Amino acid sequence: MQLVTERLIIREFEQKDWQDVHLYASSPLVTTHMIWGPNTEEDTKAFMGKVIEMQGQQPRKEFEMAVVLKATKQIIGGIGLYISEPKQGEIGYCFNPEFWQQGYASEAAEAMLRFGFQAQGLHRIYATCRPDNIGSAKVMQKIGMTYEGRLREHMHHKGKWHDSLLHSILEQEFNRDERSQE
Ligand SMILES: CC(C)(COP(=O)(O)OP(=O)(O)OC[C@H]1O[C@@H](n2cnc3c(N)ncnc32)[C@H](O)[C@@H]1OP(=O)(O)O)[C@@H](O)C(=O)NCCC(=O)NCCS
Repeated sequence: MQLVTERLIIREFEQKDWQDVHLYASSPLVTTHMIWGPNTEEDTKAFMGKVIEMQGQQPRKEFEMAVVLKATKQIIGGIGLYISEPKQGEIGYCFNPEFWQQGYASEAAEAMLRFGFQAQGLHRIYATCRPDNIGSAKVMQKIGMTYEGRLREHMHHKGKWHDSLLHSILEQEFNRDERSQE
């Protein structure tokens, strides 16, 4: 699968991309709010193996994609869509800090919503972030998601319990927003 936006190409990962991924996946700053990381080289190579295996799923339910700058062909981050029944999707994203605060995560996430609703026929797409991940919550709001609430201590990683902020968008809301932009 491949998606193209104004500034980005969202394409399948290849094993040779691991070094570009490792640039951000090994960063303690980038992985502060993540369940995983900071990665060792072995962790990143194992992650690449897992995402490449997803590409063979029939039907495909898990999409973990490279976000590439159109202008330079450089990988600036990754974005995922994970599908569950009934017609639900979860998105997640992680970007190289050199490219933060330039609207790239929002641009990629919006493209994944379009793919989820229009190509995959989903009804609801949600995302969660740790409560102090201000940037991630802002991306969710920017792409039209509604705050649903706070999940209390539903995750345990890096030695402690974590809350999450849950956001979502429904098919009809996405279509209404798309129509109003036409
Ligand atoms: C969260 C993350 C993906 C945001 O990526 P990004 O490309 O900087 O996001 P955008 O540029 O699309 O930002 C969307 C909005 O959030 C704001 N924003 C982004 N990061 C912010 C931060 N750290 N603090 C405050 N606002 C922030 C942007 O300014 C923008 O607001 P605006 O539309 O009013 O200008 C990025 O910081 C990241 O990869 N973090 C590490 C991994 C991670 O936490 N992933 C999410 C896990 S839930």
